[in-house]
Amino acid sequence: MAKKVAFITGAAQGIGKAIAERLTKDGFAIAVADFNIEGAQKTADELNKTGQAIAVQLDVSKRDEVFAAVEKTVAELGDLNVVVNNAGLGPTTPIETITEEQFEKVYAVNVGSIYWGIQAAIKAFRDKGHGGKIINASSQAGQVGNPNLALYSGTKFAIRGITQTAARDLAKDGITVNAYCPGIVKTPMMMDIAHQVGQENGKDDEWGMKQFSKDIALGRLSEPSDVAACVSYLAGPDSDYMTGQALLIDGGMVF
Ligand code: NAI
Repeated sequence: MAKKVAFITGAAQGIGKAIAERLTKDGFAIAVADFNIEGAQKTADELNKTGQAIAVQLDVSKRDEVFAAVEKTVAELGDLNVVVNNAGLGPTTPIETITEEQFEKVYAVNVGSIYWGIQAAIKAFRDKGHGGKIINASSQAGQVGNPNLALYSGTKFAIRGITQTAARDLAKDGITVNAYCPGIVKTPMMMDIAHQVGQENGKDDEWGMKQFSKDIALGRLSEPSDVAACVSYLAGPDSDYMTGQALLIDGGMVF
């Protein structure tokens, strides 16, 4: 039987890469979609040792590029069953210093990517004559306010709103739409933030990282694979009766 196909954005590194690895184990063929094509190709080469993967370059904030990347995926891998809109930017910015330029960039990448990813998924699923699963990266910061994250948080709350609305709009087409909300995950994005927090307090990156685990009930930061396990559930048949949800996977920060 032909493999099911998953298209994952931001899969060159971090959470997206862990999702690609996990869905490969689950038996999916993977499109590793990323701005960073060298990184995407490296991930795809690793996945090809045990499964099937291609690298696709795109800027998720550009509608045409998202459509082209999804079309390439269907042409090369033969189908599309799951779209994971994972790529995002995570700037920390005091609310009073947010600029128009930052606003436009972060909303275009974090929120624009969700609209374009959903639209491209709908087209591909319809062309293939079946439904599918759309899975969007929100955040713990899309559930509650956090210091200096007004720009980021706004985008991640928006993603929950889009997820809930799209779930209602697309259920008739056999398409489910859910989100995952990671807490604090050990990825390059988080390392950058730890560096910034450390610098602001005259300390090192490790000190910055330690500050984050203080508010986590389970007492440790998340591994990318913790989040990938949650996405595996949302991509698989056990979540068939779930849509419009935002699953928190934060080690106990928000409850
Ligand atoms: P990361 O920064 O480590 O990796 C992001 C990937 O997305 C990179 O490979 C990058 O090249 C790619 N990317 C960035 N902008 C792009 C664009 N315009 N077009 C195509 N690709 C682009 O990020 P990380 O930490 O793996 O985060 C993944 C998602 O999870 C993001 O949406 C983030 O907001 C969310 N998240 C992360 C948390 C964390 O603690 N790391 C916590 C909560 C949510």
